[in-house]
Formats: sequence, C-alpha cells, structure tokens
Amino acid sequence: AETLGASAAENGRYFGAAIAPNFLGEQAYADTLNAEFNSIVAENAMKWDATEPAQGQFNFSGGDELVAYAEEHGMAVRGHTLVWHAQQPAWAQGLTGQALHDAMTGHIEGVASHYQGKISSWDVVNEAFEWDGSRRQSNLQIQLGDGWIEDAFRAAEAADPDAKLCYNDYGTDGVNAKSDAIYDMVVDFQARGVPIDCVGFQTHLSSDSDLSSYQENLQRFADLGVDVEITELDVGGSGSAQAGVFRTVTEACLNVDRCTGITVWGITDKYSWRGEETPLLFDGNYQKKEAYTAVLEAL
Ligand code: XIL
Repeated sequence: AETLGASAAENGRYFGAAIAPNFLGEQAYADTLNAEFNSIVAENAMKWDATEPAQGQFNFSGGDELVAYAEEHGMAVRGHTLVWHAQQPAWAQGLTGQALHDAMTGHIEGVASHYQGKISSWDVVNEAFEWDGSRRQSNLQIQLGDGWIEDAFRAAEAADPDAKLCYNDYGTDGVNAKSDAIYDMVVDFQARGVPIDCVGFQTHLSSDSDLSSYQENLQRFADLGVDVEITELDVGGSGSAQAGVFRTVTEACLNVDRCTGITVWGITDKYSWRGEETPLLFDGNYQKKEAYTAVLEAL
C-alpha cells in the first residue's frame, strides 16, 4: 500500500504517532496524520500532571480532544501513561506511604475508567527499572516497595477491563539486564495471576544502535504469551544510516507474530522532543525522509 497505516494494516498491524492536540490545527500536521497513521497516542496530554492537576480533580480536555479526533478518523488510541516517576503533579510528589498508594490507585481509576472502552492498550507503568535490572528508586518504589507495579496493573484491570495492559520502558532494545528484569516480572505476574497483556518497547535509538538481539528480545516476550508493541520509536541521525535502523526495527516487528504495531514518537522533526537529532520520518517541512521510504518498503 501507499501509506504507513495502510501498509501496516495489510500486515495486521497498526502504525501510530505521538500527537499533541495543540498542533492539530496546523494543516500539514493534520494532513500528514490523516494520510499516514491509523493509531495515535498522546505525547503528554494523558500523563498524570495533565490529567489530575489537583488530587481528585481531573482534566481530560487534551485527551478527550485526541480521542474524539481518533474516533472521527477511524484511528486507534494507545493510552500513555497511568503511572510514571516523571511528569507527576506537584501534589503527588510529596506524598508518603498509604496516601501515595491511594493517590496512585485513585489516579488509575479516574483516568482509565474515564477512557474505558476507548483505549487499545494502556501503558499502565512506565520506566520502573534501571539499566542494571534493579528497580528505579522513584517515590513510588521508595514509598510503596516492590508491590506498587502489580497494584497498578490490578487497578487498571478493574477500571478498564477492555484495554490491553502494558508495561513500557526504554533501553530494552535487545537481550540485556534491563529487559531480563522485565521478562522476569512478566513471568512472575503470569505465575501469580497479576493481569498483564503486553510489553511496550519505547525504542529511542541512534543511527549506531546495536540491534543484534532486538528481534530475539521481542520474540522471547511474545513467547510468554504477551503482545509486544514498539511504542515510541525515533532514531537520531539522517540519511541511509537512520533509514537502516528504522528498517531493522520495522522488519523485527513484522517477523514477530505478536508484535501488534509501531508508534513513532511524533510526526515531524520540527516538533520532536529530540528535535536537533532529526529522529522522525518527516522533516520539518513534512517532507518524507529516506527513513520513511525504508519503513514503507519494509511494511
Ligand atoms: C516526552 C515528551 O515527548 C516531551 O514532550 C515531554 O516534555 C517529556 O516526555 N519516554 C516516555 C515519554 O515514556 O512519555 C517521553 O515523552 C519520552 C521518553
């Protein structure tokens, strides 16, 4: 097919992009989104600080705008993210003990039930592990201990039984200490009946990233019986080196049956969080880059 979304769909996959609602009014942004993508995720609008600026007082304006847009255009919506150490509202950052636990589960209940039935998969917990496979010493980990991740998944399951529930992280672009720890967590959750349906691989890369065990890593998770998703793909660089990395990631996903789709972390280089690294498929003028052609060919 002629576009990323249509080609992915022919292969039973989605092809998505991270979106900010304030750019939807820009014609080229909307045109590119509508033409090329069949799934979206909020780059920031569904995070804790955006959705619950004061405890128990929810603001769904940005997220609702994206969900309405997706419905109008026949796109799926990924949910990102219910619990993360970053972009927490100030009021949550100072909480301790049971108060923090209640705040976390209250947040999950408030957001996931608001969007119930509208989200294909939620990143329930984001970035809870360090490179060496130990738990990140976030406020959640320090205050609540190891059980906070499974408590978050149970709360999400109760609030939105329809959505697939994912654990999402970066630096998991091969078989390594971090992906080993996440793998062990999935095995443990399955053994104890903690709900988990999918693992998200952010895949923030550079043109010289080592992808020698990228597909093998996706496959070992898939073999556990969870879906795998490429959730935040971007690749610093340019030209054929950048295109080659995008191609390798796309091929890896297509080679793994349970890799359900790919999301790139933005549409155009001009709005990328890594803008100087020009890591996306469209340049600052919405022109297709060599990386775009590589992905389309691979799909
Ligand atoms: C980034 C956004 O792109 C930025 O706009 C924001 O300032 C910070 O967060 N991992 C994640 C994403 O899970 O939520 C982050 O998004 C990028 C890294």
